[in-house]
Amino acid sequence: MTNKVVVLGSTNVDQFLTVERYAKPGETLHVEEAQKAYGGGKGANQAIATARLGAETTFISKVGTEGIADFMFKDFEAAGIDTSYVVETEQAHTGQAFITVDAQGQNTIYVYGGANMTIDEADVARAEQTIAEADFIVAQLEVPIPAITAAFKMARAHGVTTLLNPAPAKALPDELLQLIDIIVPNESEAETLSGVPVTDESSMRESTAYFHDLGIHTVLITLGEHGTFYSTDAGSEQLPAYPVKAVDTTAAGDTFIGALVSHLASDMSNLSDAIDYANKAGSLTVQRAGAQAAIPHASDID
Ligand code: RIB
Repeated sequence: MTNKVVVLGSTNVDQFLTVERYAKPGETLHVEEAQKAYGGGKGANQAIATARLGAETTFISKVGTEGIADFMFKDFEAAGIDTSYVVETEQAHTGQAFITVDAQGQNTIYVYGGANMTIDEADVARAEQTIAEADFIVAQLEVPIPAITAAFKMARAHGVTTLLNPAPAKALPDELLQLIDIIVPNESEAETLSGVPVTDESSMRESTAYFHDLGIHTVLITLGEHGTFYSTDAGSEQLPAYPVKAVDTTAAGDTFIGALVSHLASDMSNLSDAIDYANKAGSLTVQRAGAQAAIPHASDID
């Protein structure tokens, strides 16, 4: 059965710099490569991954009217994403991200929220019918928390499973925490939220216990090259990553989330298989440069 997924989140135009190493404060460095205007944004990346990996996907987002994100709509269309709820606003410019990737494939990202930060409850309310018919709703933290809370409340009212990717990590209000079914932080986000540095199995258990105590039943901590640690009421397990040479880790986490919700059964009975599939998808993304450009199709994984 094909999953129906609604992704609420950011659309950014990504500007990439490929560097040998990061500059120190006050230092000037030459860059290896400067690329412009790549499709990005955690929301848009997760919508692309969800759709390319087989789910019927609707995206809720906002862009400015200046048209700098127009090129991305071709990719949304090619992936089969319903963009009826991706709207333009005159209140702010399209979001942008400034990304540096070093020789090890690691990145640093600075994000200008722009139009993403004007998404509100009314934007979510317009999509109520679609949310009600979904299997999963997915959000990240590059859009305002009141909009996410409204969407998750609506989802709960209709029995739709909610997934939060708390990226970039920030303190979450109780009202939102109580509406989360699945949370998927990476190690550093898990540490910021739980206060537990995630270094080994016992700290992973401690960190996931923090989320369980808040009432979140399914917790997945993504660990990059070390795979994924997951914990549910039935127990916990660490599933390994696929060993590959990373050239750019941008959007690997977004790919993981899209792959997960495109493959997860509504009763989550295949959670371990869906995580393994998502680990495979993420391992393909890190072998290619860019965000949306690097996200695989189902045929790549097959
Ligand atoms: O997760 C990667 C994304 O984070 C980039 O595409 C960038 O836009 C930032 O939102």
